[in-house]
Amino acid sequence: SPPHTRQLARTVCSRTTSGRVYSATARPAILYLHELHLCRPCGVRDVSTAVHFYQNRQLEAFASKPATRLTLRQLVFFGKSMNEERLIKSANYVRTELPIRIAHRLRDMQALPYVVVTQEGIAKVYELYWNAFDKFRRYPQINTLQENNAFCDFVANLLKDHKSVIPNLSLGMSLSSPYLLPDRLDSFMRRMLVSRISRRVLAEHHIALTRQVNSHEGSHVRDNVGIITTALDVKECIVRCARFLQQRPYHSGEDSLDAPLSNAPWPEVEIEGHMNTKFAYIREHLEYIVFELLKNAFRATRLKHPTTQVLPPVHATVVASDNNVCLRISDQGGGLLSPEIKSPSDLFSFSHVRNATRLEDTRLGALRTVSSSTRGMTATVSEQIGTLQPDAHGEISPDPVDPYPRIGMGLPMSNIYATYFGGSLDLVSMDGYGTDVFVRLPKLVGHQSRGHRAVVAQS
Ligand code: COI
Repeated sequence: SPPHTRQLARTVCSRTTSGRVYSATARPAILYLHELHLCRPCGVRDVSTAVHFYQNRQLEAFASKPATRLTLRQLVFFGKSMNEERLIKSANYVRTELPIRIAHRLRDMQALPYVVVTQEGIAKVYELYWNAFDKFRRYPQINTLQENNAFCDFVANLLKDHKSVIPNLSLGMSLSSPYLLPDRLDSFMRRMLVSRISRRVLAEHHIALTRQVNSHEGSHVRDNVGIITTALDVKECIVRCARFLQQRPYHSGEDSLDAPLSNAPWPEVEIEGHMNTKFAYIREHLEYIVFELLKNAFRATRLKHPTTQVLPPVHATVVASDNNVCLRISDQGGGLLSPEIKSPSDLFSFSHVRNATRLEDTRLGALRTVSSSTRGMTATVSEQIGTLQPDAHGEISPDPVDPYPRIGMGLPMSNIYATYFGGSLDLVSMDGYGTDVFVRLPKLVGHQSRGHRAVVAQS
């Protein structure tokens, strides 16, 4: 190899110990490292990542195409009058759209300094995405219902394989935080998480539509169109989440699952407002948000009142307007701010500069546990509270955005779920007293469906 390549190899080798940041221009050195098996000393965990990290011919062809944005209204209306021909069309849309969207994210990862890809967890995510991209782009056109069933199997398996993406990504990006400016890190993470929700919505919606067509259920007998529940009951969702959380034992250390149990109660939840609110939404998204917000409210209330037996209740207010459903969760848990958190929006950040807890050992430890665990620790909220819909084969295929251990994903993910279809999530801390969280979710098929404002999912 030419001397300059050897020089670069040495530079990359010293990267992890010196903590210096190098950009993608180190490419020849990385390939050189691989050939000479110099990867181990420099800490590159997965050498195969290095091999194809810049193999871009196929990737470029897909990444240069724009993603086709969908409105939720389209998802509902397209799904409502499903027949064989439409189902095959939907299958081929998912087959051709997902590799484009995955290619965009692979490109995004390549644009980060190479030091990021060497962090624990990141190579795994890159590999999962590369493999999924490669498999989707080679998948042949779907022409029959039988072929569609096989395609659903294929997609359901990928959904399962990708269960560990979020904790791995979060772990790797926390470890990368010292090498990235906060804005860059946060916008990268936001794109990764939003786009993951989009891909899973498309994939799960298609699988659910297939199940509905295969079971010959007419749309009039169903509560769901694909993964969208057409009349989702907000109060019922709050009650279910609250009941589930109230049954959990309280660990007085709370951050540690080994902490001693206490018999202390959890707070009650008082629901007020428009009690009969029902709207068309993705059940798992609403349940995730409500569960996380109640979980935080419960914990804060418990910690603020350690010796009280009857805790101040958590208030949940539901209000439906023409175009939105709003939810406010108020607790008396003392507020949000602390030496680590200077502004409530810092809780959404993945950078240790804005949110020092990102590099705390307990947080990293919890992320490591979740990253390497299987089903038990990675159940979804809907799975935990028992509302998950079976997939095409009568099985549940949970998304592992883990709501249980304190991995620091609950609030950022709730914010992303709330904003995904154009809603919002705002935190107001009354320091020393409590927190109010305001969530606004757009109605997908309300007034706006007849008028001007379409609810567009982010891609
Ligand atoms: C993900 O869960 O990260 C995905 O990209 C899912 C997709 C491969 C179906």
